[in-house]
Amino acid sequence: MDNSLLRVENLTVAFDGFTVLDRLSIALQPRATRVIIGPNGAGKSTLLDAIIGRVAPVSGRILFRGHNLTGMPEHEIALLGICRKFQTPGVLDNLTLYDNLCLAARRAKQWWQTLGCRLDPAERETVRATLDLIGLDDKRDRPARELAHGEKQWLEIGMVVASGAELLLLDEPAAGMTHHEVETTAAIIRRLAGSRSFLVIDHDMGFVEMLAAPVSVLHMGRLLSEGTIAAVRSDPQVAAVYLGRSHGMANAYA
Ligand SMILES: Nc1ncnc2c1ncn2[C@@H]1O[C@H](COP(=O)(O)OP(=O)(O)O)[C@@H](O)[C@H]1O
Ligand SMILES: [Mg+2]
Repeated sequence: MDNSLLRVENLTVAFDGFTVLDRLSIALQPRATRVIIGPNGAGKSTLLDAIIGRVAPVSGRILFRGHNLTGMPEHEIALLGICRKFQTPGVLDNLTLYDNLCLAARRAKQWWQTLGCRLDPAERETVRATLDLIGLDDKRDRPARELAHGEKQWLEIGMVVASGAELLLLDEPAAGMTHHEVETTAAIIRRLAGSRSFLVIDHDMGFVEMLAAPVSVLHMGRLLSEGTIAAVRSDPQVAAVYLGRSHGMANAYA
């Protein structure tokens, strides 16, 4: 019996005849976190694009709780409980943190349920708890434009959480952060993990280590290696992929 929340099966994606994902298979269990690393251009963001229905595969399937997502429109996939945070922040700068999170909490609904702007008590509690989880409760009434880069990323993680999605897809959530901010981001994700599923893409080995989750290494659209961060680090194939990079494996930026 297959208990996977997400199953990517033999997924092939091509752009103008150029294969970006090559018969890729990945599975994620409910309430599990998996990190996907790999050099620039490996196909990491494209995998997320395929999961949320933004790009159509050439072949293969993506199953979410047994539903075949292949060919399903983006908004229907979102309604099933998949929410993606992009590399660049998508918060509305002129709204307060609280209102940004309210919008995210409402986004999970059909448009006709969002008419009239009141949240029900459960949604209000979700927003309150999320502000707490991302450590920004004291700024709830400030406009988002006043946030520092790291805080904006945390707000966006919060928005993905407030959407009520079961599977959260984070594309480079620690990009451009200071070391301290990277640590806080990892702590936020660890706190949230366990009650929902995360697919986290990144290339900063230090950050990946802090997440303490299984890792899949993607290279040229194929799965190169899988395991703990320690196992992946000591895999000669992975070392070869990163070889020649000026930062080296210990600090590999893809
Ligand atoms: N919409 C697109 N059209 C054409 N090529 C694309 C598109 N999106 C990504 N690519 C190409 O696919 C490859 C993988 O990109 P991407 O998934 O963004 O890699 P990663 O996130 O691992 O850095 C790259 O060669 C990129 O140029
Ligand atoms: Mg990318």
